[in-house]
Amino acid sequence: MLSFTFFKSGDYSGYKEMGDIIMTGDMGKPETSPESAEQRINELREKIRYHEYQYYVLNEPEISDAEFDRMMRELEQLEQEYPELITSDSPTQRVGGEPLDEFSKVTHSEQMLSLGNAFDAGEVRSFVDRVYRLAGHRDIEFILEHKIDGLSAILTYEEGSLVRGATRGNGLVGEDVTPNIKTIHTIPLKLKKEAVDIELRGEIFIKKEDFERLNQQRMDREEEPFANPRNAAAGSVRQLDPDIAARRPLDFIAYSVLDPKRHSLKQHEETLELLEEQGFKINWYEKYKDVEQIIKKCEEWTAQRNELPFEIDGIVIKVNDLALRDQLGATSKSPRWAVAYKFPAQKKTTTIQDIKISVGRTGALTPTARLEPVELDGSTVSRATLHNEDEIRKKDVRIGDRVLVQKAGDVIPEIVKVITEQRTGQEEKFEMPDHCPVCGAPVLREEDEAVVRCTNITSCPAQKREGILHFVSRNAMNIEGVGPALIDQLLAEELIDDFADLYFLNKKDLIPLERLAEKSAENKIKAIEDSKEREFFRVIFALGIRHVGQNAARILSGAYTDIDRLAEAEKEELKELSEIGPVIAESVVSYFQETHNREVIEKLKKAGVNLSQNKTGDQQRELEGERFVFTGALDNYTRNEAQDLVRSLGGRPTSRVSGQTDYLVAGENPGSKLEEARKLGVTVLSEEEFEAFLK
Ligand code: IVH
Repeated sequence: MLSFTFFKSGDYSGYKEMGDIIMTGDMGKPETSPESAEQRINELREKIRYHEYQYYVLNEPEISDAEFDRMMRELEQLEQEYPELITSDSPTQRVGGEPLDEFSKVTHSEQMLSLGNAFDAGEVRSFVDRVYRLAGHRDIEFILEHKIDGLSAILTYEEGSLVRGATRGNGLVGEDVTPNIKTIHTIPLKLKKEAVDIELRGEIFIKKEDFERLNQQRMDREEEPFANPRNAAAGSVRQLDPDIAARRPLDFIAYSVLDPKRHSLKQHEETLELLEEQGFKINWYEKYKDVEQIIKKCEEWTAQRNELPFEIDGIVIKVNDLALRDQLGATSKSPRWAVAYKFPAQKKTTTIQDIKISVGRTGALTPTARLEPVELDGSTVSRATLHNEDEIRKKDVRIGDRVLVQKAGDVIPEIVKVITEQRTGQEEKFEMPDHCPVCGAPVLREEDEAVVRCTNITSCPAQKREGILHFVSRNAMNIEGVGPALIDQLLAEELIDDFADLYFLNKKDLIPLERLAEKSAENKIKAIEDSKEREFFRVIFALGIRHVGQNAARILSGAYTDIDRLAEAEKEELKELSEIGPVIAESVVSYFQETHNREVIEKLKKAGVNLSQNKTGDQQRELEGERFVFTGALDNYTRNEAQDLVRSLGGRPTSRVSGQTDYLVAGENPGSKLEEARKLGVTVLSEEEFEAFLK
């Protein structure tokens, strides 16, 4: 297979063959005047664009890699000589930017809605019926397309040249990822046909084959493989270094044009034609009127989806007539003129090879089935969670069983059922151990709990390790560069025994550890040091008190000025706090009764870790009295958490937008509050802006 390698500067496979064709022989410098240079540059750009299109979009290359590279090389040389002739849409400009510190925000010209879902034939019929009802007739054409499982992007062209590529973000505000977008060869830097101003939307994705190769490379370099092609694509688009993005095999399919009237488009089919003529890859599509035929097609694709070179998670059904689309309009979340038929989760049979127990931070013993690997929805599955003892009993799962597995939610696979008809009698029943498989201490199953726990809370190595991992994790102390590998080594070398010990490490302790360079050791020590300044609620969460999640930690940090006050709190007074129930209250009290925990906290104090609400206290005055309303889903907080956060800083979360509202925070799929806020001139913040605002 051909593969062009021109995009990294100085890395052209055809380089050595250059001289004879385009060079004039004397030291390789072409003899050109500015005028002829300009002409040649334009000619080369045209040719290169044509061949890029043939190769990447049509998959029908007409020339060899070497020939192509030669043209690129010549163009680059000419542009080096005449830098004033470089334009941003030149094929040489796909890579070249410096790594960024962060992406700037882009407010979309039009809210980027998402699609409603139909999970079965009945829901497809309801969608079509609603269209009939709202349209007042049944003579309606629908276009079916693949729902590509990637991430959507919005591209802006001015006078035919790509000026911006942005992510969808929360639908209102996305990120400007132009340098990364430019590295995608199926995105033309210059439109093929007319030099128009146009905004369009499409999906960035990675083909299955390219994904496998990418993951293999990552594993060869001992890097964490991506869970699936969509994660790989999303991670690549959000790379701050465009050089890295350029090495990722990203692809793009365009599926809509914003403001179609401006381009005299009347039907979706015409939109797709226009996109195709302008040099984009477009989706498979077919036109139907009859709902039963639509359903049949959806079902056909359910069976055939695996034959495609990229992953799709459904079929999008769209009204063809654009005027009718306007008439149908949209709800706050999604248009009424389209729906996504979502494929049912794939289920496959495999064999349970073994059942293993892992011990978590709170001592919980969790059984996991080790499976004979199977391909499910595009990734290889070799484990499934069994949750707990009751679950194993209920499903009567035995080692050696043939089982049906599916992916629950996004990633975690689960066992749907055992295929008992295929039992041979050789299967082994599984018993939960009565001792911790890691430390050997007896286990205990508390009344009303499904979970069995290791009772050795102070020195079980598994609990210790998981507790430390929790402490350094992103939502807790967020200590970058201190992960499982390092913690395992530190524990093995007895350099630490609990998370507080991290603060007493120095560079010299780390350097002798396997594969740790001085600079890297220095960075890790600095990251640990910096974490001493984390907000009080993070520290409370990081302690790992059972049942105290981020939300409860925020409430506790708002109610108690420092760790000593919290440690002295009685159950009754804790229960008085909103959202703190008896279970959490009990757990907090017993945490602080434990001598070992008190010792760890003393060590944190000695190390100088922030254990009081000073900082939050200062901010408290800043938000005093400000009214916040939330709409849509936030990435980093539940609605309650976000409201508590506002409350803990002295602000007032309210549920309705009114003239008195100061801020509306809009997450994913915002509701009608957004329009209301706009009408009333209330300041609208995205989640990122909200976070920045609090800082
Ligand atoms: S049309 C108003 N067509 O699915 C929404 N979306 O929520 C217009 N997607 O964010 C979207 N393939 O990223 C459309 N052929 C296709 C698509 C597609 C994938 C994604 C898109 C969108 C999500 C739906």
